[in-house]
Amino acid sequence: MALRACGVGFGDEVITTAYTWDGTATAILDAGAVAVFADIDPDTYCIDVESVRRLITPRTKAIVPVHLAMRFADMDALMALAKEHGLAVVEDCAHVHGGFYKGRGAGSMGDAGTFSMQSSKLMTSGEGGAVITSRLDVLELVQTQVNCGRASETDEFGRRLTGCNYRITEFQAAMLLGQLETLPELTAIRAKNAARLSAAIEKIPHFRALPKQEAITTEPVYCFVFQYRPEMADAPGRDLVAAALDAEGIPTDGRFYEPVYRSDLFLPTAEAFPQLALNRAKPVDYREDFDCPVAVRAAYNEALWLPQFTLLGTEADVDEIAAAIEKVSRALPELATADPKLAGVKGMSRAERPKIEKKNY
Ligand SMILES: Cc1ncc(COP(=O)(O)O)c(C=O)c1O
Repeated sequence: MALRACGVGFGDEVITTAYTWDGTATAILDAGAVAVFADIDPDTYCIDVESVRRLITPRTKAIVPVHLAMRFADMDALMALAKEHGLAVVEDCAHVHGGFYKGRGAGSMGDAGTFSMQSSKLMTSGEGGAVITSRLDVLELVQTQVNCGRASETDEFGRRLTGCNYRITEFQAAMLLGQLETLPELTAIRAKNAARLSAAIEKIPHFRALPKQEAITTEPVYCFVFQYRPEMADAPGRDLVAAALDAEGIPTDGRFYEPVYRSDLFLPTAEAFPQLALNRAKPVDYREDFDCPVAVRAAYNEALWLPQFTLLGTEADVDEIAAAIEKVSRALPELATADPKLAGVKGMSRAERPKIEKKNY
């Protein structure tokens, strides 16, 4: 709805990050546009602005950055690029409820910001979401879509878009209002514990915390993400390391997201989405047309994801997480040779991955 309200329509191109949940990209397809995937920054895992620049064509209408897990896209550079080319920016804020970048709230920097209140999120009403915007014209076009095409409350511009019933219920809104009250306190606890865990990880060989992003003035942590960067030959794969952390009682995901253009859940065809073939010699083929090596490395070899609730405990809890990572770090040579079957595990989600035994090293 935000994309349509920003003028995105049939056949337009919208550039987004390859390393995100598939829903970011399917929203673009649903708006009638073609999703174009940019690579990510290796330190934030958010969209790489220079990669976006290379993908801009005369058909490009908008950019959808995702503020991923615990970091923000480089919004100053991205907004400057968007302005230079007259593009709309819709911030996907599904992970950053309550986050601030240089004192500006998540979703307030672009033309619109979208939030998910699905059950895993920092604020949840079971399912649901919200769009925020400072542009009255965008607000009105979102409102008419939410409310079955009816005029918006202000109806200043008298414009409407075909809509549907996307209304939130009062019951859900009440739950979310309550969570707005507790969000600042929980955000502060998570940010404090994230800083402690990052500092500990910095001292552990083979692992790396994401570098601090100075522009973040209030850090939201939807998931705590850190990196596996083995400094030894024949190191075990990232998934085996995630399984070892799991065995230590730290719920760890490795392949949290795949690059969307390679995802098993992202299978758009030109029959279902005719815009993929519009005025092109050959329809867009997501399996063939994109290559985002940094996103590939993050998805299959490097990133480790801990859910937000692991950071809601005490300092001692955080130290236990760090101790588990340290233990696995020390045990890497042993893990590498532990079980050839497990050593070959690669690119699996937490649900698919085989479990391994906790070891007394
Ligand atoms: C980055 C991102 N964007 C979009 C979505 C889609 O949100 P929803 O499931 O509420 O449609 C999600 C999560 O589900 C997400 O993590």
